This record gives sequence, structure tokens and C-alpha cells, in this order.
Amino acid sequence: MSADEQSPHDEITIPGAPSRVSPSREEPTHPVDPVPPAPDEQPAAAVSPTGRPSGEEEDRHQSGAWLTTAQGARVRDTDHSLKAGERGPVLLQDHHLREKVMHFDHERIPERVVHARGAGAHGTFTAYGTAAGVCRAAFLGEGEQTPVFVRFSTVVGSRGSADVVRDTRGFATKFYTGEGVFDLVGNNFPVFFIQDAIKFPDVVHAAKPHPDREIPQAQSAHDTFWDFVSLHTEAQHHTIWQMSDRAIPRSFRMMEGFGVHTFRLVNEAGETSLVKFHWKPRLGVHSVVWDEAQLINGADPDFHRRDLADAIEAGAYPEWELGIQVMPDSEDQTFEGIDLLDPTKIVPEEIVPVQPIGRMHLEANPANYFDETEQVAFHPGHLVPGIDVTDDPLLQGRLFSYLDTQISRLGAPNFPQIPVNRPHAPVNDMLRDGMHQSADHAGVAPYRPNSLDGGCPFTAGGDVSALIDVPQAVAGPKTREAAASFDDHFSQPRLFWRSLSAVEQDHAVAAYTFELGRCYEQAIRERQLEVLARIDTTLATRVAEGLGLPAPVGEEVETPFDTSPALSQVGGHWPVDGRVLGIVVDEETDLAQVERVRRATDEADMVPLVIAPTGGVLRSDDGTPIPVQRTLLTARSVEFDALLVLGAPRGSADPLAGTDARAMDPTAASSGAAVDPRLQLLVQEAFRHGKALAASGHGVEVLEVTGSAGAVGVTRGEDPVALARELIDLLETHRAWARFGDGRPDE
Ligand code: HEM
Repeated sequence: MSADEQSPHDEITIPGAPSRVSPSREEPTHPVDPVPPAPDEQPAAAVSPTGRPSGEEEDRHQSGAWLTTAQGARVRDTDHSLKAGERGPVLLQDHHLREKVMHFDHERIPERVVHARGAGAHGTFTAYGTAAGVCRAAFLGEGEQTPVFVRFSTVVGSRGSADVVRDTRGFATKFYTGEGVFDLVGNNFPVFFIQDAIKFPDVVHAAKPHPDREIPQAQSAHDTFWDFVSLHTEAQHHTIWQMSDRAIPRSFRMMEGFGVHTFRLVNEAGETSLVKFHWKPRLGVHSVVWDEAQLINGADPDFHRRDLADAIEAGAYPEWELGIQVMPDSEDQTFEGIDLLDPTKIVPEEIVPVQPIGRMHLEANPANYFDETEQVAFHPGHLVPGIDVTDDPLLQGRLFSYLDTQISRLGAPNFPQIPVNRPHAPVNDMLRDGMHQSADHAGVAPYRPNSLDGGCPFTAGGDVSALIDVPQAVAGPKTREAAASFDDHFSQPRLFWRSLSAVEQDHAVAAYTFELGRCYEQAIRERQLEVLARIDTTLATRVAEGLGLPAPVGEEVETPFDTSPALSQVGGHWPVDGRVLGIVVDEETDLAQVERVRRATDEADMVPLVIAPTGGVLRSDDGTPIPVQRTLLTARSVEFDALLVLGAPRGSADPLAGTDARAMDPTAASSGAAVDPRLQLLVQEAFRHGKALAASGHGVEVLEVTGSAGAVGVTRGEDPVALARELIDLLETHRAWARFGDGRPDE
């Protein structure tokens, strides 16, 4: 085995290279042709500010050999300010300096007040045509293809916070339909904390960092959050989802999405139905374990963002099916006793199955994060003919909120003209002027009625292709009361708890115990325990035990639905696209075998990463180069879904081992184990996170030293390729679930 200094071209492409062209070592001295955009990236579509195809894509792309000012003049020097003498003061006339620094000073815009941290992607939605009976929206017609932009986000953290925090995830989709933009602005939980938008500032203030010290960041494990949710029991359903594994997804690609509210669909005949939207991921719903999440946030705070971009770059396009649950539009807008206007309630899928209506693929990364992901502006009121809102009081408040906040965030009312926000349908409004106006408005009469512009623009009147506000009868006294049907805060959290498998229940108990254990105030813990007892006595008792507090006596609420198996994410086999296999090698590993393992992994649409004592490029006997992607210094278990250990590097194989605190394990030395402690840690962490492990050759020794040999989901053998295939099969179930818990049967 030999290690070359320079990275050769590797046929198996590992995603994540910053540029399409590897740079030279020396600073270039002559202009060359600009590097072409990466093939996996795509800017917002080339439509004009008024929604017409513009063909300006190329022109918008800023690149070229020569540096210019913002006004297009070539710049002679950008490294020195214009001064009176080499050591003299800077001159006010240096416009290039002023322009450069002024623009830099204003590079940041206010971050979103919630959902500040996110990642986006472009894609396509293809409709099956199966919604035609209930919805007349043209983009849902059979075979219709609609460009989309999706932004996933966390809710609580600031823009620079870590990805894998315990939190709800936003799942917002902008459909650029021929009838205007439709935004489905949902979350990865089907319910929300509050029933009325007027409480939104309260719940967000409670979840955000404490206002005095601005800690903690991006998490619910603190007093103000638990103070609020324990006093405001309608939040308990959302809270139990947040304490479940759903709040720490393995990947954005492995999350469900929900429109949360009930929407009203209208068909060609003008008939209406009440529906709930669901996104179902092709890869299944999967999570990390909490210990893993905490390690990830240190080792790779961009874990979800990277995973999404890498998968798209590698061609493993994330995919969801869009489905609807359809309920009759009855006078009381309830179904089987569930008030469909209450956003803290689900309709179990076993009662009303989710009917697939189309499929979405995400196929391109944004060409520029700020232009697209930061400036995109979603709005639940962006609707198309055939889709209307309901009287859900949470949804109603959202309809005011988003426009308002976007004026602050994007600075002026013309943000629909930012490329990523432009409709792909002709825009002909009577909105005029304003800061950053870029549409060229013709005509002299932006008012109605007029005769000077021939009466244009005309309204569509009764034309069915126009937006219609469904003529709902509304009656009742003005009141600040909620309906009695909103009073049940416990039966559905109980349904959720009872629907989890034993291992998922264990995780939820641990999450409650962790979060409440991080609270300062005993009274808040005790209050929340009392609330838990109303959901389920066993849950409350187990959390109380974990906190060292007496178990409260509860009055469990009856649930009309015993369990809903669709709420559990354990069970089943799922595709493994984009999963990461770590392959550990040492000086004696047969590199021809390693190459075969890499190819088998690549063919399974997974990413193989080779881990060796030090970096460089390894060469098999036939000269095939095998780049080392991780070393004992840079590898951490959390970035691998499974590990294949084909060697047992000794600490001495890395000359820098003495500088790495993780390599200093006194137990390893005293036990006489010469296997590098970092490799032991790698395997131990992967083991306790329930990951599939396999070993061959010297690698078997590592399993033995770490005590993982013979456990569930741990395998060994002679043929590394066969082992890799076994690992891939194991990965289809996501985790070696039997390694967790105490073997209690599902309740
Ligand atoms: C079912 C309940 C809700 C869901 C599913 C939801 C979902 C979302 C999502 C996905 C985003 C991020 C959009 C993006 O990626 O840019 C977002 C942003 C936001 N949401 Fe909500 N939200 C809900 C309730 C509310 C309520 C009740 C309010 C206010 C009354 C609200 C106010 C906001 C604001 C101000 C933003 C930032 C928007 C921006 O700056 O562009 N949300 N919400």
C-alpha cells in the first residue's frame, strides 16, 4: 500500500467538491475562462418580474474573467485603498473602496423570526390526475409537471444554529403552476402547538432563548418552553411529537410533511371537500438517536443541509408522494367527532386513508443560497383556483402574518419580483412603484374602472379558472371564545403515545426526562408530570422515575381511537439511497477488495467513505487509486449509517495520534489492546446508536475488543463484498432495533 500526495481523479465521485475544477497550487496570474456552474445546481427559473419566460438565465449569472465595479467599469487594483502617498491617509474620492465596503456593510438581511435556519432545493411535481374528482387545480391534472422550490427548516434556532436539534421541521413547497403560485407551507408534524394564531408570539417567545441571557439556542430543553406548554395544555399533542424521534430526523429526505390545517378543495362542478395534505418520503421516515444528534451537532452542524445537497449532487434525488385525506364538507366541519378546524388534531390514516395524487422529485441544488433559499417567501395564502382555506383560526392568523413579516425581512413590498418568488404565470396586477420595483409597467390607468387603457385589466368574473372564495355561510356573535370541540387536549397525545413501538416509547420517555431534567424550576417539572399523567400513567411514572420525583396520580382521558399504526416509524424495509458506508482499512487490508466494496456500495446508490490511519491516496496492487476520505483524526461515527471494518490500525500508524485527546484512552493501554482507541470509539458509538456493523480480517479484532461481536446487526465473514451487501440489507430496516430497550413487547 502506498500513499500519494496528490488526489487523482476518482471514478466513484464523492459529493461535496466546492468547485468543478480542482485548483492549481499557485495563484493564477492570467485570466482563464470562468468555471462553469456545477451541474447539480440551478438558479431560479428565467421568468421576468411579471412571470413571462425571459431567457435571461445566462445574463443573470454573474461571472467573467475581469473584475468590474457595480457599474461595469474594469477595476485596476482592489487590494489597496487610494491614499495620499503610500503611507498617507485614504482619500474620500475612492469610490471603489466606498462601494465595496458599503455593499459589504449591508450584506445581511433580518433572519426569519422563526424557521431562520433552512436548506432549499429545486424540483418537479408530477400529478397523477387522481385528485381531479375533488379539485379543479390545473396542476393536479394527469401527467402535469410543475416546477417547485422546497425549503426545509428548523423552527427555533437562529440562522447559524445546528441542524440536528430537537425541534419541529418546516417543509414548505412553492409550486410554480400555470395558474399562479401555490405554496404548501407545512411542517414534519401533522399538528401544531396552538389552536389560535393569536398565541403564536407566546409559544415562540417561550421556545426561543431566554431574553436576558439569550440562551439556550435552538432547543426546547429549558424553563420557559416547559412553563408554557405545561400551562397551555393544547400544546401537549405537538409536544409529544417533539419528544418523539420525529424531532431528530436522519435526513430531510426521510421526513413526512403535513399541511397541518384542513383545506377546502373545489372541483369543476363547484363541489367542495375538506382535505389534509401529506408528503410521504420514498425512503421512509427515519431518525437519529439522541446521543447521535448531540454528537452530530458538534461534529457537523450542517448535517442535514449537507445530506440534502450531497444526495442531489450524487443523483439520489429525494422523492415524496403527495397525498390527501378527503373528508366531506359537512356543515359542522367535523369528522368522527374530530373538529377539522382544530390544528391540534389529526384524522388517523386508518380511518381516512391518504390517497396519492402526485410525486415530487428534488433534482437541483440552488446556485446561490442567499438568492434562493434565503430570499424565498412562502405564504399560506398563495393559492390557486380549486384550493381554498378554511376557518381554522390558526390558518386565518397565518394569512396576515407572512406578508407582514416579509416586508421587514425583504425590505419592501416588491419581493414577489425576486427571481425565486416570481410566478411562472403572467402577472398583471395594479400594484405599482415601491422600493426595488423592477417590472416595466405599461399603460396609464392602473385603476378600475378605467377607459384610458381600454378598461384593462378586466376581472374574470364568474370564470371558473379564477380564484373563488367559496361562499360559506357565516353566522354567530362576535366572541373571543374557542368552540367546546377544541377542549380535548389529551385524547390525541394519548393516541400518539399508544401507537409508538416499545423502543419509540423508550426514546420519548428519555426525551421528556432529558428536557425536564434541564429545567431549573422544580415546580415546572412537577406541573408537566401532572399533565403527562393525563396523557398516560405509565408515561408519567417512567418520566417521574427518571427525574427522581414522585409519580403523579393521573386521570387518563379516553381515546376513541386505540392506536394508529401509521404514527410509528419502526418496521418495514426502505431504499438506502444516499446512505453512507464507512470502510476502515489498515496497512495490510487487501485494497483490491476495498475497491470492489466501494463499487458495490456505489451501485447501491450509497456513498462509500474510506477511513485509514492517515490521509492521501492508497493504491491497490493493480494501481487503482483509492482516495482516503476520512482519517482516524477526522472520522466520527455519526456520519456513517453502517461500518465495514476491514482493518485494525494501531495508534502508531498515525504520527499525530499523541495530539488527539480521543487517542488517549488509558483503558485501551491497560487492557493491552493495541487497536487505536479512536477506532474503538468509532465502533462503540456506531454500536450504541444501533448501526449495522461488519468486519473481516483484522477488523474482527476490533469487534472483539469493543465487545460488539455477536450482537444483533453485527456480522463477520471472509468476503468483504458479501459483507457489504449484508450491511446494505440491514440498513433497509434503518437500525438494529433489537439492540435498544429491554425487549418489552409493543403495548
Ligand atoms: C400549522 C402551523 C404552522 C406551520 C405548519 C408553519 C410553517 C412554517 C414554515 C414551514 C415556515 C418557513 C417558511 C420558509 O421556509 O421560508 C414558516 C415561517 C414563518 N411562520 Fe409559520 N407555521 C405555522 C404557524 C404559524 C403562525 C400561527 C404564525 C403567525 C401567526 C406563523 C408565522 C410565521 C412567520 C412570521 C414565518 C417567517 C416567514 C418569513 O420570514 O418568510 N407561522 N412557518
